[in-house]
Formats: sequence, structure tokens, C-alpha cells
Amino acid sequence: MSHFHYKNGVLHAENTSLTDIAQQFGSPTYVYSKAALVENFSAYANACKENRRDETTALVCYSVKSNSNLAVLNLLSRMGSGFDIVSGGELLRVIAAGGDPRKVIFSGVGKTHEEMRLALSHDILCFNVESTAELDRLNEVAGDMGKQAPISLRVNPNVDPKTHPYISTGLKENKFGIDYDEALTAYREAATLPNIRVVGIDCHIGSQLLDDAPLLEALDRLIELVDRLAQEGIRLHHLDIGGGIGITYDKDKPVAVADYLTRLFAKIDKWRLMSHKGAPIQVMFEPGRSIVGNAGVLLTEVEYLKHGAVKNFAIVNAAMNDLMRPAMYEAWHGVQPVVQCATPSKIYDVVGPVCESGDWLARERALAIQQGDLLAIMSAGAYGMTMSSNYNTRSRAAEVMVDGDKVHLIRKRETASDLFALESLLP
Ligand code: LLP
Repeated sequence: MSHFHYKNGVLHAENTSLTDIAQQFGSPTYVYSKAALVENFSAYANACKENRRDETTALVCYSVKSNSNLAVLNLLSRMGSGFDIVSGGELLRVIAAGGDPRKVIFSGVGKTHEEMRLALSHDILCFNVESTAELDRLNEVAGDMGKQAPISLRVNPNVDPKTHPYISTGLKENKFGIDYDEALTAYREAATLPNIRVVGIDCHIGSQLLDDAPLLEALDRLIELVDRLAQEGIRLHHLDIGGGIGITYDKDKPVAVADYLTRLFAKIDKWRLMSHKGAPIQVMFEPGRSIVGNAGVLLTEVEYLKHGAVKNFAIVNAAMNDLMRPAMYEAWHGVQPVVQCATPSKIYDVVGPVCESGDWLARERALAIQQGDLLAIMSAGAYGMTMSSNYNTRSRAAEVMVDGDKVHLIRKRETASDLFALESLLP
């Protein structure tokens, strides 16, 4: 069920009208629905429970990069979520939000010495290591600190996720992970390093996957490796399948999370029963988009309408700096007028004020709108605010979270002076 819907012709987030939100907080503003977040996280948590898993046998590690607002992280942490991070900054956010560092896994191809030290000092659950060079560095850093670093190797299973090339990560030509054929050797090396403790295996093949078949294929490939490693006496405690389940932007029909998890757990149960005498393995997930994507919209106001011979433009006060996805991936986002109107519509490109032709949010949409009207850019909860920038010295949008008929400001709108506060003049 969508938590963004029309009531008496006005678009609401839960029981709160977006018109009221714009009046109170201005625009552009990211608006999130708490109920949607809870529902989306529960889809994972409940599917784990229904497949007889507790935290020791299944852990959902929300992917912080998709939406890292402290209120979002805090809410998920209170529901029992772990976190998948890709920087020291994200770790500090998780801690500031009250998240448990011992439920944090650290992915990413370029971890620095400082980031490793920070993560080790907080005793995170696992480093998802992406190369043998990283393994050596981690061994050294952990040794200097008198610690042992728990690691998983991110294996590249060479499975085609059939998604946008920019967000596909599990093929041989991608920069991510260790080649499947080199994984055994890398594990053998890891097992000899004194300050490394081998605990898991992971992969992440891509994002916005509508079908779970590529994920289940990747799982098969990981299973083969886990068995080979067990034969050599390297026993893994967890298997992390990554994130990637897609959401509906337009007419997309993604697999239901419950169905995917049920199929995945069934495969794992069968495998453990056959080749490991039923001994459990902890399964981890790193979902981002499927938890926050449809839990947020970007609220914006029409500044000008410009009618031309070949195109009409609706120039709005949100831009590519607020929502990069259309400019970067030609991503499609729905555009809904906040107040429904019966007048005939025209076809518009919805564009921002930034000085780039790539600054568009939606193309060729039938809209019945006037200057001053409010629009909601839909499905903007994931990779919206986190990818925003200050290009053109534009202040970043405010963020609010709706809970029924209450609205909480969870990030103030930046002011222009915030934007140059760290800069200084020459002496
Ligand atoms: N784990 C790892 C290692 C990842 O790299 C990602 C996303 C995730 C988990 C979460 O994937 P999700 O469940 O959200 O699909 N900016 C792009 C998406 C980039 C995804 C990067 N990695 C977009 O706006 O579509």
C-alpha cells in the first residue's frame, strides 16, 4: 500500500497534506513516510521470522548510502537493523543515530588507513574486503592496534543482473569484488594472515533488480565456494547476498521481498541439510532502495511555465543538485500535482534552475499546472538526498518525516552561509 495518496484532491503523506508541509517548511523538501519505512523494513524482518530465522541466522544490514538521515537510521536501528556502510563518515552517522557498530558491515573498494582504524576501534561486525591489497593493509592496521579484523571477501560471481549498466556491479568488467576464479587463492592467503579472522563471504551484483533469478544464481555460486573452502578447513560463519531488490518507479513489477527471501532460505536450508548436516549459516542482506525508495517524495514548486514552439518547460525550484538520478542515469520518476486539477493538461519537461541542459527531473509529462503549483517527484526516498550537492551554491533541501498527522523536521534547509562557512579569504 502506498502511503502517498490523494484525499479530497490533495496529495497526502499518510494523514498530512503536502500543501500544509510546503506552507510550514517551504520547498524543495524531501518528505518521508514513517509508516512506509516501517512496512518496508518489516517485509524483510517478517520474511526472516517466517523462515525460522532469528538475528543469529539472518541479519538485515540496511545500506546507509541510499538514505543516511539520522532519523531514518535511528528508526531502522530501533527495529533491529544492522547497517552496510561504505565510509568512515557513514559509520559515524550510524553511531550518532544510536545504531550498534557491532551490527555494521563495511563495504567499498577504497577503505583508507583511518577508516580501518575507526572501524576496528568500534569493533564492527565485518569488513567486506574487495581486493588482496586491501587484505594486506587491513592485516597491518589491525596488527598495529593489537586486534584481529573479521573479514568477508566480496566475490564477484560474474552474474548479469540485467539492470542499468551504471548500477550493475557483479560482472567481470566492474571494479568491485574479487574475481570468482581468484577467490579461493585469496581466501587461502587471508587464512594465513595473523591479524585477520575469516568469517564470511559476500557479493552485491547490482541495484534495481526486478527479478530474483540473478540473485539466486549468485547464491549458487557463493555456495559452491563455501563448500570448497570447507573442504580445506576454512569454515565460514556467514553468507551475505548484498542488496539490489528494485522498486516500482513507473510500471516496474519487482519481485516481492517475502517471495525472494523464502526462495533464498529454501535453497540454503536444502544445501545445509545435504552438505553440512544441517549446521546453520548466518545470512545477511544489504537492502537500500527497497526500504527507502518508495517511502519518500521530493516536494517542489513551479516557478515558471515556459511555452515554446517545440517544447514546454515547467521550471521548478528543485534541480539536479537535489535529485541527481534523472541527469545521471536518465532515471524515470513519477510527477504528481499536489492539488489535482480538472483543466486540460499540456506536455511539459520538468526542469530545474541549474545552468546545465542535463538539469531535468522528468520529460514529456502531461500536467495541468500553473505557476505556484506544487508537484511531488515520486519514489525519491533512495539515492535522492544522499546524492545531492550544492552545485550553483544551492542550499540542500529540508527533510521531514511524516508520522500519521504529525510532521517532524529531520534536517533543516541549509542557508547560504552554511555553504561557505568552511571557506576563507587569502590573508
Ligand atoms: N550493498 C552494496 C555493496 C552496494 O554497493 C549497494 C548499492 C547496496 C548494498 C544497496 O543496493 P540497493 O538495495 O539499494 O539496490 N545511485 C544509484 C544506485 C547505486 C547503488 C550502489 N550500491 C541509483 O540512484 O539508482
